[in-house]
Amino acid sequence: MTASYPHLRLRRARATGWSRALHRETVLTPANLIWPLFVAEGRGVEEPIGSLPGVSRWSVELIVERAREAVALGIPCLALFPNTPAEKRSDNGEEALNPDNLMCRAIRAIRDACGSDIGVLTDVALDPYTAHGQDGLVDGAGYVLNDVTVSVLVAQSLNQAAAGADIIAPSDMMDGRVGVIRAALEREGHENVQIMSYAAKYASAFYGPFRDAVSTRGLLKGDKKTYQMDPANSEEALREVALDLAEGADSVMVKPGLPYLDIVRRVKERFAVPVFAYQVSGEYAMIEAAVAAGVGERDALVLETLLAFRRAGCSGVLTYHAPLAARLLGA
Ligand code: PBG
Repeated sequence: MTASYPHLRLRRARATGWSRALHRETVLTPANLIWPLFVAEGRGVEEPIGSLPGVSRWSVELIVERAREAVALGIPCLALFPNTPAEKRSDNGEEALNPDNLMCRAIRAIRDACGSDIGVLTDVALDPYTAHGQDGLVDGAGYVLNDVTVSVLVAQSLNQAAAGADIIAPSDMMDGRVGVIRAALEREGHENVQIMSYAAKYASAFYGPFRDAVSTRGLLKGDKKTYQMDPANSEEALREVALDLAEGADSVMVKPGLPYLDIVRRVKERFAVPVFAYQVSGEYAMIEAAVAAGVGERDALVLETLLAFRRAGCSGVLTYHAPLAARLLGA
């Protein structure tokens, strides 16, 4: 209470549960969640990922069980990432174009089991398929070549769309890819397949556990700084978003998540389009490590971080905690 304004008490609205509910500005529901899943070769296979405690790779028929679980929990969309067997990885990542690759088999199996009850978002980039772990084709010096990579990404997108993908999500950060992928989808009769571009994707230290999950950590030589963004930049993020929207993206993503909420907010205010964020593997692992160290409570940390994404302006969040959060929110 201040001496000059004794009647101004913001605590009045916070005094009771009903009043806090009445004044809450932001809501989080299971409909705001996208669940990333890692697909493994084989049958009956569940492979826990050491650096992502609580997350496993699943073989296709077990991925279908996860899809059914997601439908039951009210999670509207899955994001799929394949752990391509080592012998199918090559310098040019041709396996990405195989209509029977792990990704396409998982898409078809989910589609057969769940129909249109759930959306399937598929990552477009070559890193799970290349022997060098880069997202595109490289020259002799290891530089990732833009335009030849884009032509492969177009073929990869069409391959995923033909298998039944609902949202194509290019995560490669090549210039110009959204426009040519959009044109190809239109040409091939996939006019209702959406594009969610990883528009502002940063060269981040938070992707480590993901690289374990898709077995690229040991393969990757160097880094991805010649195509992913410098964490120092936000004007550049606005340019990236503007280009992807002009080229035909339906929605855009910011990645990583919590350390980049300022980018989410700037993008939302500037463009007023659906913005998503990826709470990436390192962020998940940090929460789990905090819980294991006894410094925080998992359920509360998860719900607070996800609410923060919504408050910043996100339509939804890709998070490995999606099933936990959906359970907590549904209760
Ligand atoms: C690769 C891709 C990455 C992630 C999603 N797609 C890793 C990378 O760029 O090296 C990271 C997701 C996460 O860390 O959870 N195209």
